[in-house]
Amino acid sequence: LANGLAATPPMGWNSWNHFNCFIDEKMIRQTADALVSTGLADLGYKFVNIDDCWAEISRDEKGRLVPKNSTFPSGIKALADYVHSKGLKLGIYSDAGYFTCSNKMPGSLGHEEQDANTFASWGIDYLKYDNCNNDGSKPIVRYPVMTRALMNAGLPIFFSLCEWGDMLPALWGANVGNSWRTTNDISDNWDSMVSRADQNEVYAEYARPGGWNDPDMLEVGNGGMTKDEYIVHFSLWAISKAPLLIGCDVRNVTKETMEIIANKEVIDVNQDKLGVQAKKVRMEGDLEVWAGPLSGYRVAVVLLNRGAWRTVMTARWDNIGIPLSSTVVARDLWQHKTLKQRFVDMLTATVDSHSCKMYILKPIF
Ligand code: DGJ
Repeated sequence: LANGLAATPPMGWNSWNHFNCFIDEKMIRQTADALVSTGLADLGYKFVNIDDCWAEISRDEKGRLVPKNSTFPSGIKALADYVHSKGLKLGIYSDAGYFTCSNKMPGSLGHEEQDANTFASWGIDYLKYDNCNNDGSKPIVRYPVMTRALMNAGLPIFFSLCEWGDMLPALWGANVGNSWRTTNDISDNWDSMVSRADQNEVYAEYARPGGWNDPDMLEVGNGGMTKDEYIVHFSLWAISKAPLLIGCDVRNVTKETMEIIANKEVIDVNQDKLGVQAKKVRMEGDLEVWAGPLSGYRVAVVLLNRGAWRTVMTARWDNIGIPLSSTVVARDLWQHKTLKQRFVDMLTATVDSHSCKMYILKPIF
């Protein structure tokens, strides 16, 4: 969407994956504090996004959304001011239907202009727009109403389309929003995670600065996968130019989780200014090579072993867009090491079960 936002995929945090409807203003403030104190904010995680369940079930006498008094007594404007004072941005959630998915608050269908103006008056920076309880009309009819309302509201607001991929939002999303979900909800397990990555990969051609494919938010740190599996999760999201929205409790983040979500080299792949989503360039059974170009004639590569056994894997230059017979310097982004060996025609590595290796390859011209 040409609203000047999302030159690179958005980065931040969202309440849903870990907290579901159990949210309140105190924990949102503490999350903002934690993003700063852990250093995650400095790495680019700027959005603090409130998901479903923040509003009262009824609008006020003027038809406005009302923050839930029992959990957000100070209101959203005060929260936005607080989040902004920390150098962060505040995101909020609504729905292109009559009620949100939780059924615990109203949606914005028929109230688009009023709600966009409310959000702008509060200083909201990001709107996630869900698709539950709608009138049965097509998303391509309902979503652009909110796009226009946001653009008329006077402030640039990142617009995240949460249509779950059914109506192929990649094909129309770029004129409507800054990101679009290509999948239904992720769960905190390996099969769910890799299948979201697969479904999202199909639309790689449609991602570009200003609008990104969204395979749903991160589960890293929520406990349902091994460390290696979470490394795969983060590597695939990064190379796929997916939004990097942390979905765990950053107030109690472990060292192991930080090693993953705070890996600056992997984040840099996601935030590379070229903004090209990687694709699967070779699949042999459970072994997949994912690759995509980066600025500076570099290539990002993930060697993904989805199988049950440790296996030797190969990335060949003719599969990943490097001229054959080029000599390449390889940087291992999880070992944080530039390999001493120079590679010609291919790079070979041993990859454990449910694990990956991730590299930046740079040809020496
Ligand atoms: C469905 C969305 O896909 C989720 O990410 C989350 O926002 C829930 N709705 C909230 O009800």
